[in-house]
Amino acid sequence: MDLPHVAPELSGATRLAAVIGDPVRHSLSPAIFNAAFRATGLDWVYLAFEVPAGRGADALAACRALGIEGLSVTMPHKDVAASSVDVLSDRAAALGAVNCVRRQGDRLHGDNTDGPGFVAALRAAADVDLDGCRAVVLGAGGAARAIVHALGEAGAGEVVVVNRTEAAAVVAAGLVAVGRVGSATDDVPSADLVVNATSVGMRVPGEPGHEQGSPLDPSLLRPGQVVADIVYHPATTVLLRDAAAVGARTVGGLGMLVHQAAAAFEIWTGSPAPLPAMWAAAEAGLAARGD
Ligand code: ATR
Repeated sequence: MDLPHVAPELSGATRLAAVIGDPVRHSLSPAIFNAAFRATGLDWVYLAFEVPAGRGADALAACRALGIEGLSVTMPHKDVAASSVDVLSDRAAALGAVNCVRRQGDRLHGDNTDGPGFVAALRAAADVDLDGCRAVVLGAGGAARAIVHALGEAGAGEVVVVNRTEAAAVVAAGLVAVGRVGSATDDVPSADLVVNATSVGMRVPGEPGHEQGSPLDPSLLRPGQVVADIVYHPATTVLLRDAAAVGARTVGGLGMLVHQAAAAFEIWTGSPAPLPAMWAAAEAGLAARGD
C-alpha cells in the first residue's frame, strides 16, 4: 500500500494523541497511528514523548491540562498510569497496568489493550479456536500477564505459565481461574497453543547474536500446535523457525502491536480502525529501522 508522505495540514482544531515511555524514540506507534489518522481522514496527529521513570503521573496530569485526547503508555509507566487515572476498566484493574488512556473532559479512563490485541492478532493470523484450548505462556512479565488474562477471558480451558522466576509465574497464573504454574518439559508437548511472552529471541541493537536465542528446546514442539511469539524484531524468531520446522502453525509478534493499537484507535476515536493501513505502516517502520 502506498502511504502519503506529506504531513497532514495541522490546525488549531487538530487533536493530539501520544505515547509516553522511555525509551520511546524507536517506537513504531507514531507511524502506525498517523497512518491510521491519514487513512480515515481524521484531523488527529500522534507524537512520541520521552518521559523518564518517575514522571509518568506528571505526564498524565499534562494530558488533562493540555487536552490530549489519548495516550499510549509503555514502559516504565504502565503501573503508575493505573494508579493515576480516574477510572479503570476491569481488565486494567485486574492487571494493575494501563497501556491506553482516554480523556473525557477532565477525567482519564485507563484500559489495557495488550491482551485483547494479542487475541485479535492470533485469531486473524491462525483462526485459532481458543474455547477450551490448552495454552502455555512462557514468561510472567507485563505482556505475559496481559496475555494470560486475555486467554482466560477468551475461554481457554487451561493456561499454564512457565517462567524462569517462579514467584512471578505464581502471580501471572493467579490472574485466571484456569491458570497454573507448570514447566516447559511437562506442559509444552501437550499444549494446543504455545506463546513466547519473554524477550528471548529479540534483536537488541548493539548486542549482536541476541536474537539467536530461543525460550524452548525445539524437541518439545509438536506438529499442529499454534506457536505465537510476541517478539516482532526479527519477524521470524528462532522459536518460530523451529516451530515451522516441526509442522506447527506460527504467529509473529507484529500482529499484537498492530491490534492493540487498533483497539486504542477505536477507544479514542469511536471509528473502526483501518487495519491494512496500520499493518503497512508497522511493516514499513520496522523495515526502515535497519538495526
Ligand atoms: P514485558 O513488560 O515486556 O513483559 P518484563 O516485565 O521485563 O517485560 O518481563 C520479561 C519476561 O521475560 C519475564 O518473564 C522474564 O523472566 P523473569 O521473570 O525470570 O525475569 C523473561 N525473561 C527475560 N529474559 C529472559 C531469559 N534470558 N530467559 C528466560 N526468561 C527471560
